[in-house]
Amino acid sequence: MAKTAKRKGGKPAGPELKKGLVGVYADSTAVSKVMPETNSLTYRGYAVQDLAAKCEFEEVAYLLLYGELPSRSQYAAFKKKERSRRALERRHLNVIAEFPKSAHPMDTLRTAVSYLGTTETAWGGEARRKDLDRAIDLLAKIPTMIAADFRLRSGKRPIRPRANLSMSENFFHMCFGKMPPAEVIRAFNVSLILYAEHSFNASTFTARVITSTRSDIYGAITGAIGALKGPLHGGANEAVMDMLQEVGDPKKAEAWLRRAMKNKRLVMGFGHRVYKHGDSRVPTMHACLEDLTAWSGETKWIEISDVLKKIMIEEKGIHPNLDFPSGPAYYLMGFPINLYTPLFVMARITGWAAHFLEQNADNTLIRPLSDYHGPKQRKLKK
Ligand code: COA
Repeated sequence: MAKTAKRKGGKPAGPELKKGLVGVYADSTAVSKVMPETNSLTYRGYAVQDLAAKCEFEEVAYLLLYGELPSRSQYAAFKKKERSRRALERRHLNVIAEFPKSAHPMDTLRTAVSYLGTTETAWGGEARRKDLDRAIDLLAKIPTMIAADFRLRSGKRPIRPRANLSMSENFFHMCFGKMPPAEVIRAFNVSLILYAEHSFNASTFTARVITSTRSDIYGAITGAIGALKGPLHGGANEAVMDMLQEVGDPKKAEAWLRRAMKNKRLVMGFGHRVYKHGDSRVPTMHACLEDLTAWSGETKWIEISDVLKKIMIEEKGIHPNLDFPSGPAYYLMGFPINLYTPLFVMARITGWAAHFLEQNADNTLIRPLSDYHGPKQRKLKK
């Protein structure tokens, strides 16, 4: 519901305010469509569940960036290009190596992406045509930045990317130096597809606001990473796993949740600004969590999740969002919790870049109004 401003005496005054831009259509888009009435989501017209079942993440990246699925030869050329761009320059790795080890990986990733922008000098005019190329460069290099930072912070040397591996396979290789079984790679690939795009969410809208000033793609993506970090947005996948660990035991889950509800505590991974009857992406990711549970033999997290989900839906009517199954899924894949939101970035760079290109192609500066409620104009006595 849109919230209106309250003045003294509790009376609304002035123009109607749409706090949080709730219910506001800020622009049109051809990138994706969220349909809360049918709990569905399409990327460029294709149902996300079908894409997750039948595509590699790289195909979906192509679809989002170019607007159509690639032909066989287009896909081969796209993959070749992405694979050739994965390596980071030595000076970039040196910058990552200098980050404080205590910094959150989202903060180091934000800075590492921003650094890439400092290596560009030609802006405006003709150089704008290179934006799609820059988007592919970011798509290729962000996983390398995440993996290098992950290894450097635990005193290990970064592992070079390999050009004969898919993006999902290569990421495990760069993080751990080995490959998990195919079902784990598949679950990771699905998570990247589900996280790739979601219309005008907070980080995408941030990217579009920055783009609308005719700033560059590095600024837009750096800002988007800053927005994604928050626990009400992408940071929720980390907060979900922290919460499941706090609950700790399926037998304690119900009592834990009842206490949380009594204390009006936010239950992480539940609720959504647009979906009110269930997130279209959850069943697909939950199926991956089931596969990972069977593969690992670790049933605790899905058992706790099931208790929380049942009571939240039955008693509050609040459904889980994608971060709810993704958190424990990433845990079972072996990633440390503070890497989950960077993994989200690795996927969402595709949606952000598609929106950067779309905003640029038909731009209007985004500049809303505010209803002032500070002191009345007064004389400066000085
Ligand atoms: N736990 C407990 N209560 C919740 C809740 C949650 N996760 N999500 C929503 N609610 C409650 C709110 O407290 C509010 O109750 P009230 O009407 O009694 O005040 C009601 O549901 C409506 O929520 P509201 O905050 O107005 O919805 P929103 O559209 O502004 O917020 C989120 C959407 C995502 C910010 C919110 O659901 C949330 O904070 N979820 C947890 C974080 C999360 O998982 N984020 C990832 C989103 S993909």
